Amino acid sequence: MAVLGIETSCDETAAAVCRNGEILATVVNSQEIHRRYGGVVPEIASREHERYLNTVVWEALGKAGLSLNDLNGIAVTRGPGLAGTLLTGVCFAKGLAGGRGLPLVGVNHLEAHIFANFLADPQLQFPFICLLVSGGHTQLWHVMELGKYRLLGESRDDAAGEAFDKGARILGLKYPGGPEIERVGREGDPTAVVFPRAFINDQRLEFSFSGLKTALLYYMNDFDAKGRVSLADVASSYQAAIIDVLVAKLRQALKTTGARTCVIAGGVAANQLLRRQVRTTLPDEYKVLYPDLDLCTDNGAMIAYLGEIYLQAGRRDPLDFPVEPNFPLPGAQ
Ligand code: KG4
Ligand code: ZN
Repeated sequence: MAVLGIETSCDETAAAVCRNGEILATVVNSQEIHRRYGGVVPEIASREHERYLNTVVWEALGKAGLSLNDLNGIAVTRGPGLAGTLLTGVCFAKGLAGGRGLPLVGVNHLEAHIFANFLADPQLQFPFICLLVSGGHTQLWHVMELGKYRLLGESRDDAAGEAFDKGARILGLKYPGGPEIERVGREGDPTAVVFPRAFINDQRLEFSFSGLKTALLYYMNDFDAKGRVSLADVASSYQAAIIDVLVAKLRQALKTTGARTCVIAGGVAANQLLRRQVRTTLPDEYKVLYPDLDLCTDNGAMIAYLGEIYLQAGRRDPLDFPVEPNFPLPGAQ
């Protein structure tokens, strides 16, 4: 089965082709225009998707060496995400599916992030714990099987990716903040500034990053007067505070559930310190998985991959389904 996947939930216009669980081609156009505003401007993002979607889809098909006639179905991100940007992808997919008489499925973006780990290791076995860390979500999931997920805990306020993005803004760095803080912090001392690590010794599987952001804001207010601490030190210390909490809570989730396999998903999973720290703090008998870097941040491959699984299971969505900006994970408890 060959499936075209389309992703437009935020500021990446992406398309990919998956055939029998293998990604034949993936194309991502990251909208650079938002950098000048320090964050995603929803209306501009929708217009940019409108502008590039056609090209991105044709490029993906071309790279895969397939034509529309070779497709057996289309998968598109239905939510969660920005209503306007989701609409561009969903309308495009519906037009294509309706016009060509192809089956269509609307995929949950978060579920697709989790399943990107099967692209990293097709032998991955249920059940496992997923630390889902993106721009909009910080959650711990107990993944039992396809369509059966238990939420173990989540952030009370900002998501980890949001903490990176807002922190970068305070530090005068570009959007998206995660890669910028990681880059600048590479030369810094992670112990130079002691930032708060909310709930780190608390038994509850909850996160909070808003206090950390405020602490950074206050710290930077009189930064020039601090002399010996460099911007790299601050970035490195800020990053360490976020990662320490994520790793501590992931360990706790593994302990509580008795699970021996964990995966990391979402844009923040691209962070090298997080990847390293999860691997080195867990004993060797724990299996730790994270997708390739380009499959951590938003992409069409994860949509095509999960869409194919659902299409193979016989799912067909009607052509009139709405977008769901707050789409919950299907089968979540
Ligand atoms: O999954 P994603 O591409 O989009 C959402 O679904 O939200 O995640 C985007 C988030 C942004 O907040 C970005 O700053 C963060 O992922 N991110 C990173 C890194 N690369 C992207 N955070 C930390 N380190 C990175 N290397
Ligand atoms: Zn995402």
